[in-house]
Amino acid sequence: MRIFSKLSFLLMFISVTILSGKQMDNKLNLMPVPAKITFGEGKFRLKASFAVSVKGSCNDRLYPYASRVLRRLSGRTGLFFTQDFITKASTSDTAAFNINCIRAGEVKLNEDESYTLEVTPEKITLKAETDLGALRGLETFVQLLSSDAEGYYIPAVKIQDAPRFAWRGLMMDVARHFMPLEVVKRNIDGLAAVKMNVFHWHLSDDQGLRVESKNFPELTKIASDGFYYTQEEIREVVKYADARGIRVVPEFDIPGHSTSWLSALPELASAPGPYKVERKWGVFDPTFNPTLEETYSFFDRFFSEICPLFPDAYMHIGGDENNGKQWSKNPQIQEFMKKNNIPDNHALQSYFNGRILKILSKYGKKMIGWDEIQQPDLPKDIVIQSWRGQKGLANAARAGFQVILSNGYYIDLIQPTDFHYLNDPVPQNSSLTESEKKLVLGGEATMWAELVSPENVDSRIWPRTAALAERFWSPGSVTDVQDMYRRMEIISPYLEEFGLTHIKNQDVMLRRLSNDMDITPLKTFVEVIEPLKGYSRHSQGVTYTQYSPYTRAVDAAVPDPKAARDFKNQVDTYLKTKDEASYLALKLWLTMWKENHASLLPIINGSPVLKEIESMSYDLSELSSAGLKALEMLHSGKPVPESFRNEQAPLVERAKKQRGQAELVIIPAFIRLFNLPEAKTPKYE
Ligand code: ACM
Repeated sequence: MRIFSKLSFLLMFISVTILSGKQMDNKLNLMPVPAKITFGEGKFRLKASFAVSVKGSCNDRLYPYASRVLRRLSGRTGLFFTQDFITKASTSDTAAFNINCIRAGEVKLNEDESYTLEVTPEKITLKAETDLGALRGLETFVQLLSSDAEGYYIPAVKIQDAPRFAWRGLMMDVARHFMPLEVVKRNIDGLAAVKMNVFHWHLSDDQGLRVESKNFPELTKIASDGFYYTQEEIREVVKYADARGIRVVPEFDIPGHSTSWLSALPELASAPGPYKVERKWGVFDPTFNPTLEETYSFFDRFFSEICPLFPDAYMHIGGDENNGKQWSKNPQIQEFMKKNNIPDNHALQSYFNGRILKILSKYGKKMIGWDEIQQPDLPKDIVIQSWRGQKGLANAARAGFQVILSNGYYIDLIQPTDFHYLNDPVPQNSSLTESEKKLVLGGEATMWAELVSPENVDSRIWPRTAALAERFWSPGSVTDVQDMYRRMEIISPYLEEFGLTHIKNQDVMLRRLSNDMDITPLKTFVEVIEPLKGYSRHSQGVTYTQYSPYTRAVDAAVPDPKAARDFKNQVDTYLKTKDEASYLALKLWLTMWKENHASLLPIINGSPVLKEIESMSYDLSELSSAGLKALEMLHSGKPVPESFRNEQAPLVERAKKQRGQAELVIIPAFIRLFNLPEAKTPKYE
């Protein structure tokens, strides 16, 4: 174990040296990158006397927000600021940081979020049309915090900033796995920190309806299994989000994805019940019967009660993946279609949507839904959320609908950050006309919750969502992937200020798996594995359900792990430059992994749940052992002999195999090191 810690320490030293080298070239660590930055001369030094004053006409949400920012700054610097809370009375002319907004902002689509932040060595000025712009500017301000030998400072800059897209959101599915209030709140804080402005709350699905209905108490009781938000809690979340400049868009997914509702309301289903709240994952048949007047009187009473809880103009009706099986088999529905000249199931769903739209309009709501709701006669103020592809987005915009993109932003599918980051709602080669492009309001990351629990959900959302926030906020020309990763890793730990658990819960989970033993060897291993991507975790001999454990090595592993990325980059650098620093760093990595299996075995032996990854840990040590040999040959200037390379091919093939629904992420780096034929780059849909 001792040699092991020494190696980790040396590795850390080398990576820190490389990283700080990178930071010296006057790069800011801002994420999202602002629209315009002009560098000034000098530094504004932070001292305990630092104080904030607010002038102009702001909504009250600004004062506590600014106070929280001041506390975060104090927390990061250890400075005992003399100012306590920022209030309406904080108008001192001598305060070094002045915030000025022209008018109170409203948390609604298309509200002005622009701001100008000017830092000189003497003072800082944040000006915004609305307090919402000021909130965004405050986040830029904390991200500017820097340090040198003298202490903490803010570099002199002038930033003029405004979002590229008006709709920048995260969808959180709380139906597949219920997410307690604190999970919701800490993620809303995370969204505000990266200037996102929509929390899309997926509140119902086959596996649960998560709101309290006072009109239909039995519905809540049966359809939620007791896991729901009270109306008071919903108001609390809406208020919490508003205080951070974030809209809450609720989703009730109908007419399909509705088994939970129909378990309480079997008489409204399109086939005879009874129904039980679904426990498995997939697309299921139960669907509301769109031909019954009782269906609409139910939704009228339901929405009459639910709409007022959510002040946002939009209500999401889902509408995806209705397989129509119950409709096609029901003679009464078929008769209704014939009588009303409804040619097919899509048209029948359109009829349903039209009736729901009338109800929503009555309660002052506009409609948003997934691709499938699109039909020509819907009013043009509805929004289509495109999950099936860029084509769907283009079709919607060409048909004159407002649209947001989610295809390519399915963060539950464990794809690498750069894949999401380079997926632009309006790419440079977009074939849309200028006026069609204006209909693209933005995008949303979607956190579907089949394979997560409250314990690890943050690690699927963060830090990748920070990179997505940049895609939605920053100019489309900001596409430097290496720099995105650099900044994302710097921002990531600060997100834990809000109680987000994306970094720390890995250790929590590994401690439980390690049975009180030192987690270091397990962590070293888990840092280079990833859960299987896409939907493939569902087809590897395990049937996951709502009540499965989400606590195994695969669940502690995170998407796009940094250690694996650093190793890949190091291999690439070494192969290009053959420099001594990369050689040494690689040697350390490989030695550590070579020896890790022996350290991990005692943990595995005391923890049967880890048995499933034993052979993968062994493969990692074998690969590393061969990697060390290849490295030595390369570094002595000798070519790696063909025979050596050929010997490694079966090892690489064996190491590629999934174990415990996880896979080693660093195989491509070994393939390069061994100079084996490159695997095809996977294509993500
Ligand atoms: C969806 O992923 N079915 C919207």
